[in-house]
Amino acid sequence: MQTRLTKLLDIQYPIIQGGMAAITDAVIASAVSNAGGAGIIGSGGHDAKWVKEQIALARQLTDKTFGVNIVLAAENKDEIIEVVCEERPTFVTFGAGNPIPYIERLKNLGIITIPVVANLKQAKNVEAAGVDALVTEGMEAGGHIGRQTTLSLLTNVIPTIQIPVIAAGGIADQRGFKAAIAMGAEGVQIGSAFLISEECPAHINVKKKIIESTDMDSVVLGYTIRHDVRGIRNRFTDDYLALEYSDAPREALKGKMKGVYNKAFLDGDVENGYIEVGQSLNALTEILPCEQIIQKLVKRI
Ligand SMILES: Cc1cc2nc3c(=O)[nH]c(=O)nc-3n(C[C@H](O)[C@H](O)[C@H](O)COP(=O)(O)O)c2cc1C
Repeated sequence: MQTRLTKLLDIQYPIIQGGMAAITDAVIASAVSNAGGAGIIGSGGHDAKWVKEQIALARQLTDKTFGVNIVLAAENKDEIIEVVCEERPTFVTFGAGNPIPYIERLKNLGIITIPVVANLKQAKNVEAAGVDALVTEGMEAGGHIGRQTTLSLLTNVIPTIQIPVIAAGGIADQRGFKAAIAMGAEGVQIGSAFLISEECPAHINVKKKIIESTDMDSVVLGYTIRHDVRGIRNRFTDDYLALEYSDAPREALKGKMKGVYNKAFLDGDVENGYIEVGQSLNALTEILPCEQIIQKLVKRI
């Protein structure tokens, strides 16, 4: 299937594996790329040396296109950007922050730039800054989210934007993929479905918990402080929500979030850690290799 995204990235299928902090290394990224999509090394939670090593490893594991996700809220973002500029992966995506100051430099080095946006204003701003494509991420997604749904965002953004739009948020099966393409998206970015892949280094307890969970197990924390993060309801989220709706100060809420991501994804504590994952939980039923996940998404298209 050809779209402007498959041409831009020179990939077989218009499917990007979303960068996921601490759990998207060269192994999962190259598995997705070798299966015809575009894998991403997630720099979030890592230092610049690790990112450099993972880019080198991905180059050994695949001769196909892969990218790097840059978390602009990270304290070490400048060091990560330096490594990206030295190593020049084919493309970068950006999360959590304003990418515009970095676009010109990356473009001048020939790196394809693909920011993630949550509304039309952001989409217009990054398009005007000269990015090559953009991801619209709806609030069905796992992790840090905006306030519009995937369908509304595509409805609101696509008629006004000229560059390729990639849909993200809640896309976890072939129907979701087809729906995004029917809406005019030229590709999809998927996180949660790849999170439970064989190649993802997330703790096995997390993958099992996600597979056990169903639609109503999804909660959003941080709504009252405009710091929305979606994940699975558990002991930690019950405590957090009790604190949040008792009018606790912003600092207390931010402090309570510290360390809980790694506690879940790296240590496997699925009750006291926070399992960030999207809302389309009923489709996440088994641990499969990335290649099979992609084949299930695209077959008959
Ligand atoms: C566990 C987890 C961690 C994530 N970490 C990041 C990140 O570090 N940077 C980023 O830009 N997006 C991050 N995301 C968002 C994904 O890249 C992707 O856009 C999102 O998962 C798509 O929605 P879905 O989970 O419904 O497929 C994360 C998502 C999840 C589930």
